[in-house]
Amino acid sequence: MTRLRVGVIYGGRSGEHEVSVASAASIFRHLDAARYEAVPIRIEKTGRWTLGAQVPRVLSAGGDQGQRAEALQPVEPSAAVAASSLDVVFPVLHGPYGEDGTVLGLLELANVPYVGAGVLGSAAGMDKAVMKTLFAARALPIVPHLVALRHAWDRDTAGMTRQVSDTLHYPVFVKPANLGSSVGISKVPAEADLAGAMGIAFEFDRKAVIEAAVPGARELECAVLGNDEPRASIVGEIIPSREFYDYEAKYADRGSELLIPAPLTARQTAEIQRFAIDAFRAVEGAGMARVDFLMARDSDEIFVNEVNTIPGFTTISMYPKLWEASGLAYPALLDRLIELALERHAEKQRLRTSLT
Ligand SMILES: Nc1ncnc2c1ncn2[C@@H]1O[C@H](COP(=O)(O)OP(=O)(O)O)[C@@H](O)[C@H]1O
Ligand SMILES: [Mg+2]
Repeated sequence: MTRLRVGVIYGGRSGEHEVSVASAASIFRHLDAARYEAVPIRIEKTGRWTLGAQVPRVLSAGGDQGQRAEALQPVEPSAAVAASSLDVVFPVLHGPYGEDGTVLGLLELANVPYVGAGVLGSAAGMDKAVMKTLFAARALPIVPHLVALRHAWDRDTAGMTRQVSDTLHYPVFVKPANLGSSVGISKVPAEADLAGAMGIAFEFDRKAVIEAAVPGARELECAVLGNDEPRASIVGEIIPSREFYDYEAKYADRGSELLIPAPLTARQTAEIQRFAIDAFRAVEGAGMARVDFLMARDSDEIFVNEVNTIPGFTTISMYPKLWEASGLAYPALLDRLIELALERHAEKQRLRTSLT
């Protein structure tokens, strides 16, 4: 039996480089060597693409251990894809220039099957303003929010500040539209602090989302798997170690706790699972996504917060843990994701590309 050549693209030009390296290490470790030949394609923080001579077996958040620098050959992105004769690609990139669909455009042009959402779904899942519009179109529950462009904010700061106070109650959250890992996000207690938070968000994107804070928000997450008939996993909960699930809580102090399953009623769980599938469809998800929710502690009101089209994939990450708890172990999850990638690609090959 010939093995499938699976390119794993990891690292990347984003603040989430280290998380991606850790996710890729777990994937390399769990890919069944009898069925797959793993081909590591690493993107340095500088954006340089490299092909490794050996599969990095032990990776830490700090970088590849045992992977000597001279073993890495710099290549053009298109050459990395074309020259590797890959059967399928598993992109494990978080944040901009990765999870946003940019790398997938290259794979589409090269006609290589890949795991996860396509260009549109990835871009939509990266942009918090576009994502909310798509959720609203499906009548999914979202928190009241406003979207501000830097240009408009700079021209009429006073007017927009008034608009925020008139439409939303403080505290609010201010976020750059296109980012992840809580980078550039502030919790704003009162109007006097809004301008500072907007300034921070506009350092990372020209578009910001301002949204009502969910009181005492519980953080619930549900994993989705599939293409046209997506399935939802059991629901998990994160107990952040800090006031909110910020960058430090996610990656630095690691004190956050996961509850699987989340303590919820059967009815709440079913509702979240239904919302998760709807949210996946809303952004045109494919293959996999983790859908994150916020639940008001006193009223139990549920809001869809976001879809992550490339969720964390370390063995302690929520996405594989939720599937494991739902009866699908990590290696079987990888098998299924690769199968879904090939199915989706095969379906697209059936489409007509000419009129004659
Ligand atoms: N409207 C909100 N109400 C309460 N907490 C929020 C709200 N929005 C974000 N948070 C907190 O900030 C964290 C990061 O926000 P999120 O929108 O998930 O951005 P990211 O894409 O960076 O993960 C959330 O996990 C949550 O702890
Ligand atoms: Mg989040």
